[in-house]
Amino acid sequence: MILTVTLNPAVDKTYTAGELIAGHVNRMRTVMSIAGGKGINVARVLRQYGHSVYAAGFLGGYTGDFIEDQLNREGIGCRFVRVEGDTRVNMNILSDNGYVTEILEPGPEISGEDLNRFFAGYDELMEECGLVVLSGSLAVGAPDDIYATLISKASDRGVRVILDTSGEALRKGIEAGPYMIKPNQRELEYIVGHKLVNRETVAHAALSIHEKGVEHVVVSMGKKGLLSVSGNKVYFAKAGKVEALNTVSCGDSVVASYAMSMLEGVSDEQALVRAAAISAANATTLKNADIPKEIVEELEKTMTVEVLI
Ligand SMILES: Nc1ncnc2c1ncn2[C@@H]1O[C@H](COP(=O)(O)OP(=O)(O)OP(=O)(O)O)[C@@H](O)[C@H]1O
Ligand SMILES: [Mg+2]
Repeated sequence: MILTVTLNPAVDKTYTAGELIAGHVNRMRTVMSIAGGKGINVARVLRQYGHSVYAAGFLGGYTGDFIEDQLNREGIGCRFVRVEGDTRVNMNILSDNGYVTEILEPGPEISGEDLNRFFAGYDELMEECGLVVLSGSLAVGAPDDIYATLISKASDRGVRVILDTSGEALRKGIEAGPYMIKPNQRELEYIVGHKLVNRETVAHAALSIHEKGVEHVVVSMGKKGLLSVSGNKVYFAKAGKVEALNTVSCGDSVVASYAMSMLEGVSDEQALVRAAAISAANATTLKNADIPKEIVEELEKTMTVEVLI
């Protein structure tokens, strides 16, 4: 069983539009609503590959009901704490000129009592789960060391953790020693405190975090590819060119792919190739966290892994 944690889930609304102009009435051409938030996206990818998954975090209001209903129908076990207020709606507007505009709500505020209920549920879930995925931004009111706390709780029981977040939550999480992190280039720059100008500087920055005690550091570099550090080796892979329609949840697809590979115990090179293929395939559909498996198989066939260090 895999547990994914999403502290601040969202109903993701994807719109298509002609042109978006600030200060004007903007009519959308199409709209699609889907349960979202990074951990939830990871859970949805894992379900498509037949894995058993729990999703935990905080949900509230009618938008929370929408998410729970959708996840139940997909066969994802919901273990959310219900809170006051409505789960947020995040809008993602794809306009014909190629611009992607995101409008993100803050989400409901979490109380101390909500947090305590969440920790109690998490402790129980640790008994059943072999792997934990902590993904995304913090809920309003959650302390920025919450991921560090959740990593320590999992480590105490010998459960491995993948952490995918940003800023101080990531910095503090790294100090608690997660098994794996998956920053993108910008998130890694924040942690090392300087710009990373090419693949080699990214590789050295990732190695420096590995040396601090994170077993596996995977850095996603958008359409430029994916870099992996484990056991003092640095690998790089890039999927063949795809027509990218929607890159939301590409990072989450990388995380889901690594979660599967960790459970299956495949080699670091195989894990990297699979993650690059699954995340590139995710970009080819308008739907978030939707993986066309035939595209994954095609991409895997033509990929090679470079050893950088
Ligand atoms: N346009 C693209 N074409 C092909 N592959 C892509 C594209 N964008 C992303 N990917 C794949 O997805 C991976 C993750 O993307 P990216 O680095 O943008 O993640 P991210 O910034 O964490 O995204 P998010 O957190 O929004 O999901 C990349 O390393 C790459 O393998
Ligand atoms: Mg990301």
